[in-house]
Amino acid sequence: MTSPQLTTPPSGGAAQGEHGNPAYLRKIGRTLIISMYSAMRSIKLYPPEHTSVQRALEDVANVAREINEHEHELEFRVSGEFIFLNETRLRLDLTNYASFGQVLNICKASGVGVIRAAETATPNDWLVFLNALDTPLKNDPEGSLDRLTERLRNAGVTAFELEQPSESDTDREASEQVHAAAVRTYAQSVTVTKDVMNSVRLGKTPSLKKIKRLVQTIVDQILNNEVSLVGLTTIRDYDEYTFTHSVNVCIFSVALGRRLGFTKRQLYDLGMAALFHDIGKSRIPIDMLQKTEGLTDEEWKLIMAHPWLGVLGLFQMRGQAELPYRAMVVAYEHHMKCDLSGYPKPIRARQICMTAKIVAVADGYDAATSRRSYQTEPLPPPAVLEEMRDNPRRGMDPVVVKAFINLLGIYPVGTLVVLDTFELAIVQTANPNPELLARPIVMVVSDPMGNLITPPTVADLAEQRPDGTYERTIIKTADPERYGIRVGDYFL
Ligand SMILES: [Fe+2]
Ligand SMILES: [Fe+2]
Repeated sequence: MTSPQLTTPPSGGAAQGEHGNPAYLRKIGRTLIISMYSAMRSIKLYPPEHTSVQRALEDVANVAREINEHEHELEFRVSGEFIFLNETRLRLDLTNYASFGQVLNICKASGVGVIRAAETATPNDWLVFLNALDTPLKNDPEGSLDRLTERLRNAGVTAFELEQPSESDTDREASEQVHAAAVRTYAQSVTVTKDVMNSVRLGKTPSLKKIKRLVQTIVDQILNNEVSLVGLTTIRDYDEYTFTHSVNVCIFSVALGRRLGFTKRQLYDLGMAALFHDIGKSRIPIDMLQKTEGLTDEEWKLIMAHPWLGVLGLFQMRGQAELPYRAMVVAYEHHMKCDLSGYPKPIRARQICMTAKIVAVADGYDAATSRRSYQTEPLPPPAVLEEMRDNPRRGMDPVVVKAFINLLGIYPVGTLVVLDTFELAIVQTANPNPELLARPIVMVVSDPMGNLITPPTVADLAEQRPDGTYERTIIKTADPERYGIRVGDYFL
């Protein structure tokens, strides 16, 4: 059998498409947004002649000119929660969401839907424009747009053409909005978790307010649309592992709790507990956590102390009276295993609480499927699930594991698979019918020859031909790295 080969990796230079070059536009679009955002910030902070302002404006003008030269146009369009550059939707990710959100909000407040910038726009033109853009009238987008246009005219700036947003909210756009909201929640969760863990590391007492609001949002979004947030757990960013891990464990746990019939209030407590399950690791030196081998006995002892270090940490949190008591139990019990063969060793027999059993399953899965250092190879997700189910030494609750498999499917979300059509596909969601767990909904990412398809097409593997045979069936799983595929990118 010949394996499909990819001719172009997803993030590399894509072929010239209908609307210019999407890969190029996505990349330069990010640079444009970041440079617009930093220019607006320096305009606010310094006088126009200041070198920081001048440099920032030159950056924007250069990026804009490059886009015009390369694509022969620059049309920046804001629609709902999205930003498009020459018809290519720019993706939000963990690093650019602050600038992205700011630029989006400023455009909305100023009543701007479309900005067309000519190749001739000078740094000074950008100064006039960005300055006017960033001072909208309160609650009056239309008035703001009129005033903005007038200011440009008065200053003799003709390099920009502006339009108000068009109102077309189709079903597809509506579901994309839900997805965009999920991406924002995910990115925010990682940032907030990072703040909390870093401040614990520095010996400060972090405030719980933001975390509480965040967990509420996660619970609401999972109750509304489980698929979007669960898909984002595939991002598994190595550099941010400690934080994405906590967020992923929280998302998996809440989705699992929902399947197990938890009430909204219980889901919230579960989410808080899951997010804080490894808080004890904030008290262990980072380089020790990142070591993959060669830990001394002493170092092991310290790592194995993170459950009770976590309990101590939670006691010290500001506003901890409002922290669910469950969070402490979970921090303490999440490595104990159902047969108590894990750590810490309890003095007498005890029952692991349901919340800790759920977090242990979510934790075990995320840890085993993530790359935690450049030396370790993560296991393919289906193998991890199988091991969790079949290896009693894992000490996981069989009922919880079963619910988890129902949630993720036998081929969990984010698994790269080879189909009997020789297409490559990424699993998007489990089949809602538990009888058909081997037939998930997938995104077909390459044709039989291995050529990448952008955007990918969605296929339901339960789809049958008139004669009752299946259109597509999974043959085997594949290693995304071998094909140069970053699975997480397909869920952003
Ligand atoms: Fe842990
Ligand atoms: Fe963990």
